[in-house]
Amino acid sequence: MTTLNNAAKQAVPKPNGPIVECTQLRKLYGDGQAARAALDGVSLTVQPGEFVVILGQSGSGKSTLLGIIGGLERAYEGNVVLFGNNVASLSDKQLARLRGEKIGFVFQAFHLLQHLCVLDNVLAPTLFDTSSADKTDRALAVLDHLGLKDRANDFPSQLSGGQRQRVAIARALLQKPALLLCDEPTGNLDTETGDRTIALFRDLHREGLTLLAVTHEERLAAVATRVIHLKDGKIYTTNSTAPLRGGVAGAEPPPPEYTSTESAYTSSAKGYTSSPADEPALAKPTQVDP
Ligand SMILES: Nc1ncnc2c1ncn2[C@@H]1O[C@H](COP(=O)(O)OP(=O)(O)OP(=O)(O)O)[C@@H](O)[C@H]1O
Ligand SMILES: [Mg+2]
Repeated sequence: MTTLNNAAKQAVPKPNGPIVECTQLRKLYGDGQAARAALDGVSLTVQPGEFVVILGQSGSGKSTLLGIIGGLERAYEGNVVLFGNNVASLSDKQLARLRGEKIGFVFQAFHLLQHLCVLDNVLAPTLFDTSSADKTDRALAVLDHLGLKDRANDFPSQLSGGQRQRVAIARALLQKPALLLCDEPTGNLDTETGDRTIALFRDLHREGLTLLAVTHEERLAAVATRVIHLKDGKIYTTNSTAPLRGGVAGAEPPPPEYTSTESAYTSSAKGYTSSPADEPALAKPTQVDP
């Protein structure tokens, strides 16, 4: 397997401040007396290098929160600052650009395009981006990193659930996001495949990626640096399970049940990013041009 070292040298910017800052988020569905708060005063900050897992039961507001943070939902009360940009001040076009450049999404249902092969699924986000240079080499490198290069020409129907989820993760990593948002990423996987996917997230985090995942599965919380509990649209506890070290990826040893799968998908702990010293620091928060 190759690593992503060269391609990823510009992969993870270091904003001066938090990657995500949410203040008093409130999201109502319905009108008048029928209105219900899916989010009811949620404040949350994600720092570079964190792996935050939000745990909550069905209906607690997890997807709503992730959709707001990821810029997919704009109708809400409260304030969101992404990479130093106040989202309310961005046009839809600016927000879409910020999302495309900085954020990768992984969904429970994978959302792969069945008529496209694996490689084209990974390339799909760039198909209509005329400013995007040929990404094929990068896509193949990401697939290689995730142990899927030899499946590049297969179609989703020929893959297992875990392989499909890895294709979805490869697609999310193609644009070298600084933040990976995951909505129930193991929800459609059997236990063993889910554990491997969790180990993959842990490896990506160790390699420098910042992750924010929402789930009802406690086992995903085992590899997080911080666990937040969401209930009825409110945050009610925050645990730090593996404190950040030097503001970069926590080096806390993983639980034993995850270590055995480490080599299954990644050949190198430095595959996603080079050493922090090699990464270009941003002098100021990312500004999005009109
Ligand atoms: N489009 C919508 N219209 C009306 N109510 C909605 C809508 N989307 C979500 N809700 C409500 O908002 C609340 C939170 O929904 P959300 O999808 O965020 O929960 P969740 O924690 O992601 O649940 P799950 O674990 O089942 O995915 C729920 O009560 C849900 O019924
Ligand atoms: Mg949900």
